[in-house]
Formats: sequence, structure tokens, C-alpha cells
Amino acid sequence: MDKLKLALVGCGGMGTRHLYGLSELAKTPFNNVELVAVCDLSRDNAELAASEAENLLGTRPPIFTDMEKMVQEIPDLMAVDVVTDPSVHHTVVCQALDLGLHVLVEKPMAISVKACQMMMDAAERNGRKLSVAENYRRDPSARLTRHLLDTGRIGKPYMATLHAMRGGDEIFITPWRHLKDRGGPLLDMGVHYTDLIRYHLGDVVEVYADARLVEPVRKKQKAIRDPYEFYQQRFKTMPDEVPATAEDTSMAMLRMENGMMVSFIMGVGGHGACRSQLILGDKGSLQSFGNRGGQAVWQPEEGEVLDQTGILETISDFELDPLTAHFFPEKSSMGDQAADWKLIAFEQHELARAVLHDDPIEVDGVEGLKDVAAVYAICESARIGRTVTMAEVESGEVYGYQAEIDEALGIAG
Ligand SMILES: NC(=O)c1ccc[n+]([C@@H]2O[C@H](COP(=O)([O-])OP(=O)(O)OC[C@H]3O[C@@H](n4cnc5c(N)ncnc54)[C@H](O)[C@@H]3O)[C@@H](O)[C@H]2O)c1
Repeated sequence: MDKLKLALVGCGGMGTRHLYGLSELAKTPFNNVELVAVCDLSRDNAELAASEAENLLGTRPPIFTDMEKMVQEIPDLMAVDVVTDPSVHHTVVCQALDLGLHVLVEKPMAISVKACQMMMDAAERNGRKLSVAENYRRDPSARLTRHLLDTGRIGKPYMATLHAMRGGDEIFITPWRHLKDRGGPLLDMGVHYTDLIRYHLGDVVEVYADARLVEPVRKKQKAIRDPYEFYQQRFKTMPDEVPATAEDTSMAMLRMENGMMVSFIMGVGGHGACRSQLILGDKGSLQSFGNRGGQAVWQPEEGEVLDQTGILETISDFELDPLTAHFFPEKSSMGDQAADWKLIAFEQHELARAVLHDDPIEVDGVEGLKDVAAVYAICESARIGRTVTMAEVESGEVYGYQAEIDEALGIAG
């Protein structure tokens, strides 16, 4: 089978997990990707990733700290998997596209709507593929929820809630996640949810919201549960405290193109938590509609509430694509410790199919930009104290909140 020659760019926490994704893919008959290099500004991080790759894939990839040099030394390199922090997605991705490479970039697509647009322009001018690694919608539970909606199992949806608030004042994974011009927690977590909302319910039209910074000082966690070597090493050198500049709490009302209302609460801080994922239709409702390892729950118009196992026993018209079906033969990722890696593998496999066979990309630049814009619509609405339309935010007509970020990164104007 033809394989996409791919380099990993950005060998931090999620970069490590992308190597596990490649390893999951390599174990399947669908493998269409070959890792040929790893690249990171930090040689130490690249070294750690090369060792991890050797353990997982059996070959130690060469290490680079400069993408241009990597392209010179590996002339048949076809694509990069960009897993850097979001404040440099646009610089790294535009450089890769201008070097003639195809790109898979981790969510959020970029640090601002303008940065997303720069990436789309670069893909267009170079005739290269650009795909955004948004994993939540790839989970079987999200696919099943979409199927139940598409087949009218809850009738016409009219309202939804997505509440994902977790409290506390600990550093949320990395210090950069608390800095507005590096990609705050609302952007980091929010795009997962704006993507899920849009995947299930269609486009957002208007947003009225407020956003707050509740925890201005974030504290180092007492211990780190993540077993990966990279996370363990980084934990040792993490500062005890980080001043936060990005909002960590938000509440929004979204009006959807199909007329639905969505109550969207999201946050990573403060004293208290709430979780709810509910879609209400005129013939039933759905709950817990997707996440890594999640499950769908369906309340039909008549009869008992069905969990995902019950739903799958009841309906016979739900099929997954061949790779997802291979990974999750029970049509569920619940309890699968490798679910995170398998969903990443799916994204890597999809880019390879797009490049090798011109197959479609599900979360392309247009989708990735809309996910980012929907999060910033919250921040822009909070800033100016009125409802904003997505058209205003996507076009840059309403831009004050992001202007500060773009100015700090030298891409404003
Ligand atoms: N989909 C998910 O579930 C998920 C989970 C975690 C992180 N992420 C995303 O993955 C991305 C990375 O997050 P992370 O937690 O791994 O961050 P991280 O800080 O752990 O790693 C970032 C890495 O990028 C490197 N880097 C920075 N600038 C670079 C450049 N110009 N060229 C090459 N390397 C560079 C850094 O040295 C570091 O090794 C973010 O976009 C984040 O939102 C996604």
C-alpha cells in the first residue's frame, strides 16, 4: 500500500500521543502513513519523541529543529502533523504549506480567526491539503448521536444544553493554556465543543455571552496522573504558580441556523462544576452525546431510556466507516484505554487518504475556522456587551478581543 511520508512537528504532550496514534494505525491493515522524521524547536523534546517512536514503531526517526532543513534532507517528505501550541500554528502551518507539504494540524486550528484565514490562503495558493485534528466528533458515540439525529429518532430538535464546567485553580495541563495570546482555556477546550455542537446541530448564527477570569493565579498540581514520559519530565520543571491572563469561565446562548437554542457553559476554574449534554427534540431526547470514550443515551418518545448498548441492540441501521469499525468492533469506545490514540490514528489515516487518493477531509479549513470563530464570538460578545452574529466574527467585522492577540503576535492589520 502507498504510504504518506509524514513528519511530526511539535513533540510535546499531544505530539507524544500522536506517535501512539501512528502506532495504533500501524497495527491495522489500513496503515497508510510512514513516520520519517520528528521536529521540534526543543531538541530535548524531539529526542524524547524519537525514543518514543522507536519503542512504538521499531525505527528511530531522524530529528530536526528546523522545518526547512528537514525538507532539504528528506526531499520525499509529503506532509507534516503539526502539534505545536496554538499560538504558532499559523506560522508553522503556513511555512509547511509554502514548502509544498500537506498538513494535519491539531485543534484549535489557530489562535485567531485571522490566523485561520492565513492558513487557508496558504493551502489555496500552494494547492495543498489542510486538515484539522478535531477528535471528539470521531468517537463512535458522536457518530451514533449524529445518526440518531439524521434519522429523526428524536424528531425535530428544538433546544440543547452543553455544560462543561470544571472547577479548581490548578494549572490546566500547561502554563501556556492560561495566557490569552497563547490560547486560553476557553479556546483550548471550547473548540472541542463548538465543533461537536456544529457537527450535530449545524451552523451557529448568533451568540450572546459573557466570559470571566475567575482564577487569576493558577497553581501547580500536587501530582500528575499522566503516565507518558514527556508529561512526567515536564511536571518536574513546571513553575509553582502561573499568572493567568485568559478568561477561564463563560456562559453563552447560541442561536442556530435551524432555529434551535443552545445553552453553552464552559469553564476550567472556580468553585464548582457542572456537566450536561442534552439535545431535546419533539419526539425524544439525547444525552452524553460524544467525547473520547463516551456513550450516547437516548430517551425515545415511548419506552425506557436506552444507553449506548441498548441503542445498538435496538437499531440496526447504524454503521461506522471501515477504520473506526475495525478499531471499535462493538461500535463503542467506552472503556477502551486506547480510544484517544485510535481517534488520532483516524485523523492521520484520513489525511493520508486525502493526499494519496484525493478523498475528502471532514474537518477542513472552513470547518476549523468556524469552530474557532464560535469560541471567539463568546469573547467578542462579552467584550462589547451585545449579541454578535457569526458573520461579523468570521468576516472580522467584530474583532476587538482578537485584535489584542493578533497585535501581540504581529499579524494584526
Ligand atoms: N485533541 C486533543 O484532545 C488535544 C489534547 C491536548 C492537546 N491538543 C492540542 O495539541 C497542541 C499541542 O498541545 P500540547 O499540550 O502538546 O502542548 P505542549 O506545550 O506540550 O507541546 C508543544 C510542543 O511544540 C513545540 N513547539 C513550539 N513551537 C514550535 C515550532 N515553531 N516548531 C516546532 N515545535 C514547536 C514545543 O517545543 C513543544 O514541544 C495544541 O494545539 C493543543 O490544543 C489537543
